[in-house]
Amino acid sequence: MPLGALGSRLEERLKSRSATVGVVGLGYVGLPLAVAFAHAGFRVIGVDADPSRTTLLAEGVSPVEDVPAAELAPLVQSGRLAIHSSSDALGEADAIVICVPTPLGKSKEPDISFIVAAADGVARVLRPGTLVVLESTTYPGTTDEVLLPRMSRGGLRVGEEFFLGFSPERIDPGNQIWGLARIPKVVGGITPGCRHLIVTLYGQIIDRVVPVSTTQVAEMVKLFENTFRSVNIALVNELAIMCRRLGMSAWEVIGAAATKPFGFMPFFPGPGLGGHCIPIDPLYLSWKLKTLKYNARFITLADEINSSMPEVVEVRVADALNERKKSVRGSKILIVGVAYKRDIEDVRESPALDIIELLHRRGAEVAYTDPHVPSLRIGDHVYKRTAIEEAGQFDCVVITTDHTGVDYAKLVERAQLVVDTRNATRAVRAANPGKIVSL
Ligand SMILES: NC(=O)c1ccc[n+]([C@@H]2O[C@H](COP(=O)([O-])OP(=O)(O)OC[C@H]3O[C@@H](n4cnc5c(N)ncnc54)[C@H](O)[C@@H]3O)[C@@H](O)[C@H]2O)c1
Repeated sequence: MPLGALGSRLEERLKSRSATVGVVGLGYVGLPLAVAFAHAGFRVIGVDADPSRTTLLAEGVSPVEDVPAAELAPLVQSGRLAIHSSSDALGEADAIVICVPTPLGKSKEPDISFIVAAADGVARVLRPGTLVVLESTTYPGTTDEVLLPRMSRGGLRVGEEFFLGFSPERIDPGNQIWGLARIPKVVGGITPGCRHLIVTLYGQIIDRVVPVSTTQVAEMVKLFENTFRSVNIALVNELAIMCRRLGMSAWEVIGAAATKPFGFMPFFPGPGLGGHCIPIDPLYLSWKLKTLKYNARFITLADEINSSMPEVVEVRVADALNERKKSVRGSKILIVGVAYKRDIEDVRESPALDIIELLHRRGAEVAYTDPHVPSLRIGDHVYKRTAIEEAGQFDCVVITTDHTGVDYAKLVERAQLVVDTRNATRAVRAANPGKIVSL
């Protein structure tokens, strides 16, 4: 691989781990990555634009559940991981990884303003021989169309004087089995030399690196993975709606179908999509295709079905209360689990928040409990966690997230009525006829 003098020097520094790695954006993606590079022996410069976050991190306090303070603090105290609030600190970095948010705008269009700001910050300090990798999930073409012109502005030539590529992050917060090092990492470079250097960088901390032909392919891989999940979740959500009309359990159908040893992969219904990936990423892809005059129909339909699930839950709750001669208005309802998925504390885009709002708007008195979320803000309203032991005081308990730390048998025993959107009460359903309503 002809890398040129600067590329060869960087390759050597990466292999010997004497290089300095910069990480821009120290959130769910960037912080574990910065810690992994520091553990591997690299000097790491972590940059985050949020001063409250950098203050915490500089004290060794971790805002990310997957990175325990006991792991972070020694790295910060020893200076192996230096925390900064400005990208000016990246002047000494040999490799810079950008992990900033990629949300949606008001009309569900991609908001890449964080990528643009981060790229401008990096471009200001870019010096010859530096490698830049974008990890933020984004539409195909971003690295080439948004990053490359910015990094080239100072006159450096890509593939010779600086190196650029894309590598999607696949981290799964809360997953104890598939941690950062064990999840294969897809990488694409603007040139083959760029790709080779990115493979070398991640090869230091990740067991398997998967090179692909272009940055666009690498960008598309991530969007396809999450579109695959979104479409399959929409399919089983619709299955749940159909099974209810047919008087059967979607979970029983899926469980039996999953005994087929080939050609089937189980997905499970729920109260809707949450988190920063699955509800958002497919819309980056459909937006891009719209600019090319193509309507991505599966994505649109899946979004429609998944987004309607909180309303499906609202109707289930109203029907269940109605059966007991109660109305939603005036009822006390306890939401169990507000994080968007099991065993994490992240409430971003959580469907539980929509359900709380819907029930609140209908006049219910809504409270929540969640072992991972001590308090919850929705708009101007701050909810304080209710103790799960108080479940019996509510007219209805709605299970929205099935955290493993919750004793569901006890919850059912205490509750007057349970709407279970996750099949968390399967073990005690038969023993409690009439008390548990599923999705
Ligand atoms: N959270 C996940 O599970 C996950 C998984 C895979 C991919 N991703 C993708 O990774 C990217 C980052 O996601 P996240 O969950 O880590 O987001 P996050 O919100 O947890 O963290 C992003 C951090 O970037 C900081 N930031 C924003 N602009 C900045 C700038 N210009 N300079 C420096 N710091 C800046 C923010 O203050 C924040 O702390 C997104 O594109 C997301 O889609 C997330």
